[in-house]
Amino acid sequence: MTKTIIVADDDNAIRKVLNQALARDNYNVMTTGTASGLWTLVNEGHGDLVIMDVVMPDENGLDLLPQIKKIRPNLEVIVMSAQNTLMTAVNATQRGAFEYIPKPFDLFELGNIVNRALQQKNNQTNKREDNINDDEQLPLIGRSSAMQDVYRSLARLMNTDLTVLITGNSGTGKELAARALHDYGKRKNFPFVAINMAAIPRELIESELFGHEKGSFTGATNNSKGRFRQAEGGTLFLDEIGDMPSEAQTRLLRVLQEGEFTTVGGNNAIRSDVRIIAATHRDLTQSIRQGLFREDLYYRLNVVPIRMPALNERKEDIPELVKYFLSRSLEEGLPWKILDDAAIDRLKKHNWPGNVRELENLVSRIVALYSQDNIGIEVIESELSELNPIDRNQNFTSSNITELLETFVNDILNSQKDSSKKGNIYNQVLKEIERPLISHVLNISRGNQLKCANLLGVNRNTLRKKIHELNIPVTRTPK
Ligand SMILES: Nc1ncnc2c1ncn2[C@@H]1O[C@H](COP(=O)(O)OP(=O)(O)OP(=O)(O)O)[C@@H](O)[C@H]1O
Ligand SMILES: [Mg+2]
Repeated sequence: MTKTIIVADDDNAIRKVLNQALARDNYNVMTTGTASGLWTLVNEGHGDLVIMDVVMPDENGLDLLPQIKKIRPNLEVIVMSAQNTLMTAVNATQRGAFEYIPKPFDLFELGNIVNRALQQKNNQTNKREDNINDDEQLPLIGRSSAMQDVYRSLARLMNTDLTVLITGNSGTGKELAARALHDYGKRKNFPFVAINMAAIPRELIESELFGHEKGSFTGATNNSKGRFRQAEGGTLFLDEIGDMPSEAQTRLLRVLQEGEFTTVGGNNAIRSDVRIIAATHRDLTQSIRQGLFREDLYYRLNVVPIRMPALNERKEDIPELVKYFLSRSLEEGLPWKILDDAAIDRLKKHNWPGNVRELENLVSRIVALYSQDNIGIEVIESELSELNPIDRNQNFTSSNITELLETFVNDILNSQKDSSKKGNIYNQVLKEIERPLISHVLNISRGNQLKCANLLGVNRNTLRKKIHELNIPVTRTPK
């Protein structure tokens, strides 16, 4: 089929020359002298390739480029410019141009570039060109049935004041869901205040939540308002509620029951009008059995539960998530990239213990580290093998090792694909433990392997072999 090339340049002479040259090579040519003309053609779905000038009477072509790439990611754009500065080239590349050519140019050379660009387009397996603008506004990405359940619950809860408990593993989007509930709900014009129970020293939690009076304890040099009052009229997001100390749990329960609270060191009851959303990655029923969480508080909070699915339960959402993170990088001024089908398939085979956050980080690394536009399976393979995500994404400080092991083993057993791992759990687990263990003791020994081997109680040759096998970086640091 004859390919169509759109030429956008305000210079009549250049339009004419290109028109003749490209027609001679059996291409259809459409020409326009303005950015708006170009935009209309692209928007209407015309063209297999664009050749455009930077300076046009109505708009700078480079400003238009990201928008073109956004609505038609697979449409290659060749940028030509008489402003031959480094910045023009850099800008053109960063915004997703296939090639940048300085004017004046050699027609023969341009012909080669055109062929390459169309060739590349043929090779692109990822041919979907649907408009991602629709999704851009949505805070949560994914159309899997697991996510549809979440959306239905969120939609029903948005205009209520019901207390919601969001559960799910680390990186599944619990905070994002909480924000969506607030941002689209009736309290949206009031504050959304988040407090992370795992991040605040336990002796300060009550004063953080309820505020304190000047002089009520050492260090209380001023009155403080507390998050409840900051969130007045809006939403208070109690993140990592499973890590709340028991005294604070008791006080929180009272507030939820009575709708009022007192500041630390204060006497007057203050009425509170906040919607509570709580989240945790822990299994609270287990915490209750262990005596770590109050059962009555659990029932108060768990009025409506929302469970965020793990990414490995909704692998069909991976392509869309990748596309979304890529387009977000583009908006941040980073270069445009596309992942081919094999790369996407490889991502679908991964188990994603760090969930969406792990995927998001991976995409950011790829955008930052690789110069090619088309990302293939080799890149993914090497990025996934670099560091096992378990130790990169899990929060060891707030989890115990038994819990981590259970999650890890369950993930292997639940995964549909990686059947090779199923008969190899013992070694898999050992590998997961060895790496962080050796890294940590190596750090303690300041990179001295002999000292590290002595501390671990293993032979130093064994240690050296493990360091090599597990690809653990060793840096010697001075005392
Ligand atoms: N469905 C989604 N669509 C787009 N981005 C998502 C989605 N889910 C999660 N993310 C992104 O992944 C990252 C982790 O999400 P979030 O912080 O909400 O997870 P979390 O469940 O609160 O994790 P943690 O338990 O570690 O606090 C964020 O950068 C978030 O924007
Ligand atoms: Mg969170």
